[in-house]
Amino acid sequence: MADRVVTGSDHAGLQLRAEVVRIAREKGFEVEDLGPFGADSVDYPDYARKVAEAVASGRAKLGILVCGTGIGMSIAANKVKGVRAAVCRSEYEARMARAHNDANVLCLGERVTGLGVGGAIAAEFLSQPFEGGRHERRVRKIADLEK
Ligand code: RB5
Repeated sequence: MADRVVTGSDHAGLQLRAEVVRIAREKGFEVEDLGPFGADSVDYPDYARKVAEAVASGRAKLGILVCGTGIGMSIAANKVKGVRAAVCRSEYEARMARAHNDANVLCLGERVTGLGVGGAIAAEFLSQPFEGGRHERRVRKIADLEK
């Protein structure tokens, strides 16, 4: 069965979210898109919570959130236990966020990266596995901070 990716945004991230959904499907992921589905102004923490909880519960392997900067989404998503959300502005950061930090939620800023770069960052995040090894111990220490 295909791994599931959950996506969400606020009104400032609609176009990049659509691009991310397209790319994730193209890569063979099952995508659960949690909205929003209109252009009205919404509050990013509501969508960060939906996506973060889907990942934390194990319903999805990875989440991708888009707002204007990615920052608000990452602050909110990281409040949910078990979530390691990373704002990435480059493909290198996305690769390292997965390989070293086992980040399970990617946060993008549509007003910062735009569709081309943002899509490439998402593609990298979806392709790179966690390296494990010495990074396993460090990620466990992050989990210890939640106790
Ligand atoms: C919305 O105007 C904007 O504040 C939001 O998309 C995001 O950038 C917050 O971090």
